[in-house]
Amino acid sequence: MGDLGPVAWPPPPIRTERLVLRQPEPRDRPAIVELHASPQVGRYIGGARPRDELERSVSEAPSGRPGQFVVDLAGAMIGLVQLVRRDAAHEEGPTAGRVDLGYLFLPHVWGHGYATEACTAALDWLDRVLPDERVVLSTQVANQRSMRLAERLGFTEIERLEAHGAEQWFGERPPGGGPGAEARAPGRLDVR
Ligand SMILES: CC(C)(COP(=O)(O)OP(=O)(O)OC[C@H]1O[C@@H](n2cnc3c(N)ncnc32)[C@H](O)[C@@H]1OP(=O)(O)O)[C@@H](O)C(=O)NCCC(=O)NCCS
Repeated sequence: MGDLGPVAWPPPPIRTERLVLRQPEPRDRPAIVELHASPQVGRYIGGARPRDELERSVSEAPSGRPGQFVVDLAGAMIGLVQLVRRDAAHEEGPTAGRVDLGYLFLPHVWGHGYATEACTAALDWLDRVLPDERVVLSTQVANQRSMRLAERLGFTEIERLEAHGAEQWFGERPPGGGPGAEARAPGRLDVR
């Protein structure tokens, strides 16, 4: 995965109705460890990582990477959203070289619409900085929450295939958003 090329990084924090999308800070470290150590979070994405390994490897001052946003609710990190370019040199198929949306949220905040709100804001930001970019997303079909989120965000299927012992779903979202973009966008964001 690569970065977003000419896009100035990091952007100022992005504020939505309930959330802030911002850069990582030292106070986020426990939540970053929790996110990657959670069996629920890791269930469809290759499994949880050992907590002791994370305690050793996660920096005291996490810096993140271009395209990666910490999602903050009332001053606490609740998840990560990232937009990174897929490798065009070592990948084939309709997603090679395209910007890929990924999302991970702590289980105690699932079911409140925070992932939809944060991903909508990140995609809206991308539409402004890279207006012609078609975004792709991959998820296991068995990951029902992720499949519902992809649909809500306006992604439509481009491919399904078997990989890593499971059915994988690939979707894309046209520049400016998928079906229903007008209904999702107005009044949702306040970028400062
Ligand atoms: C995928 C994942 C982000 C989805 O989280 P989520 O909480 O289900 O998604 P949202 O935050 O958009 O919440 C949507 C749910 O909140 C409900 N909701 C409650 N209040 C809401 C509100 N104010 N606004 C919108 N939705 C609301 C919706 O009805 C919806 O429920 P439903 O799915 O039962 O229909 C989460 O399960 C996760 O982090 N999984 C682990 C990581 C992973 O597998 N990532 C995918 C690979 S990239």
